[in-house]
Amino acid sequence: MERPIRIALIYGSTRPGRFCDTVVRWAAAEIQSEITKSAAFELDQIDPAEPMAIAERLHRADAFIVVTPEYNHGYPAPLKALIDETGAEWHAKPVAFVSYGGVSGGLRAVEQLRLVFAELHAVSIRDSVKCRTLIESPWYQRFWGDRFALASDQNTKTRFDNDRSGYRIATSVGGAATGEGGDRIVCDDPHNVQEAESDSIRTSTTEWFDVVMSTRVNDPRTAARVVVMQRCHQRDLSGHLLAQGGWQHLRLPAEFEEPRCETSSRAI
Ligand SMILES: Cc1cc2nc3c(=O)[nH]c(=O)nc-3n(C[C@H](O)[C@H](O)[C@H](O)COP(=O)(O)O)c2cc1C
Repeated sequence: MERPIRIALIYGSTRPGRFCDTVVRWAAAEIQSEITKSAAFELDQIDPAEPMAIAERLHRADAFIVVTPEYNHGYPAPLKALIDETGAEWHAKPVAFVSYGGVSGGLRAVEQLRLVFAELHAVSIRDSVKCRTLIESPWYQRFWGDRFALASDQNTKTRFDNDRSGYRIATSVGGAATGEGGDRIVCDDPHNVQEAESDSIRTSTTEWFDVVMSTRVNDPRTAARVVVMQRCHQRDLSGHLLAQGGWQHLRLPAEFEEPRCETSSRAI
């Protein structure tokens, strides 16, 4: 077994008598119950009420689970302070949320935290998990199960390998890609729509794509790059790439309007 995956379990509330203790206990028990022969976890419970060497402990972590209640349709101020006192410690690492509260179950706290962590380049693990679930499904296995098997010794939410030297990794805009290469590179929603009006943030995204992602293909003759996004500015990544040329463009309106579904070669 490789070294345990280090998970930082972060308390969102510092309120005296907080319910957060109960939820953190539950989350810790759930994580412990996931320990198997090939996957072990080391838990560090980080409590903003006891701010001991927090940056160092976040730096050591491989992944984060944030346990947050909802306060006034947002997340608690001590959690924001903890996040803002740190920065690079979060970069390119997966973050998951456990929320609680009133009727909403804390969903609005999580909505806001997703925006905050996107800014910190923490990685969305949702699509990576969906992809792995699809590969492991009976339907996929029936048609293509003979082609490869997922490797059990490298099968995490942000990276999984197969037994034919293939792998899939998830990273974020500006996040870690050095030393990695691919035959299919998919860039999904590179812009934070709320920041699309900022010239400097938009330009840093297009530059990241030009400088980092363009050099990540294994073989430029056969590799494919796909960008999936909603348009949010004339000079967003789609606008930038269309101006460069050489891309197939599939344009789907948010609401279906005949005949505006087009590819660059023909209307569909
Ligand atoms: C100041 C304050 C504001 C709250 N606002 C909301 C809210 O907007 N939506 C909600 O679902 N619950 C809200 N709640 C309920 C809390 O989410 C719930 O009491 C939760 O258990 C608090 O977590 P804690 O005890 O770990 O601090 C609020 C509670 C407090 C104290």
